[in-house]
Amino acid sequence: MKKPFVAGNWKMNTDSHTSIELAESIASGSLEFAGRRVHVAVIPPFVYIPAVVKALGTSSIAVGAQDIYTEPQGAFTGEISASMLKDIGCNYALCGHSERRHVIGETDELINKKVSASVSGGLLPILCVGELLEERQAGRTNEVITRQINSDLAGLSAEKVSAVTLAYEPVWAIGTGQTATPQQAQEVHALIRKLLGEMYDNQLAEEIRILYGGSAKPDNAADLMHQPDINGLLVGGASLNAHDFIAIIKSLSE
Ligand code: 13P
Repeated sequence: MKKPFVAGNWKMNTDSHTSIELAESIASGSLEFAGRRVHVAVIPPFVYIPAVVKALGTSSIAVGAQDIYTEPQGAFTGEISASMLKDIGCNYALCGHSERRHVIGETDELINKKVSASVSGGLLPILCVGELLEERQAGRTNEVITRQINSDLAGLSAEKVSAVTLAYEPVWAIGTGQTATPQQAQEVHALIRKLLGEMYDNQLAEEIRILYGGSAKPDNAADLMHQPDINGLLVGGASLNAHDFIAIIKSLSE
């Protein structure tokens, strides 16, 4: 049994005070569960990462970044590398989040390089995939997920891929309150595992964690987690509320 994993993506929210308050509340409220029964990570905006790492103190909550750049250093104004993030206490990096794909315009080719650079720089990537509403309505979900998985992991060795956590985040479920049903999520998670088995091998596919994200909340977390191929949750809105995020962590520990 893989230990369930819950990560809170704070997106472009909080400030220098509320990021610390939120981190401290999550750390103190999840002491019994975090680390032991559930693996927990928070993913604050870049600028608050050092303060959040400090606020989490000796708790077993890991910290991630919302994005990284493909190169380790150099003349790339405005970008932040995996080694810099590792240096300030990050363990994880989101790659290919839906907002970066659809608002910022990141391509699968760029995301592929980011996944690779994360692992090379000592970070554990959380690679996000997911279809748009119109793609689902046109019956193209499997085709879109297959393309994303194949291109985003292209050329990565089995050893590199074993450091990756996958996250299925249907775009139509993000921030909309419209969660995918546990069955809809399970179908895509099973597809992702099958694709990983074809690209690598069944053992690797079995060991990789696949999270669900998209309006995950305390009242739907347990149902989603009962699905055989869902190994955890990537939480947006509900992770900004310590009470809700702790309730999700608790429900994953049961
Ligand atoms: P919401 O939980 O707000 O729908 O966001 C999901 C998400 O994008 C997490 O990365």
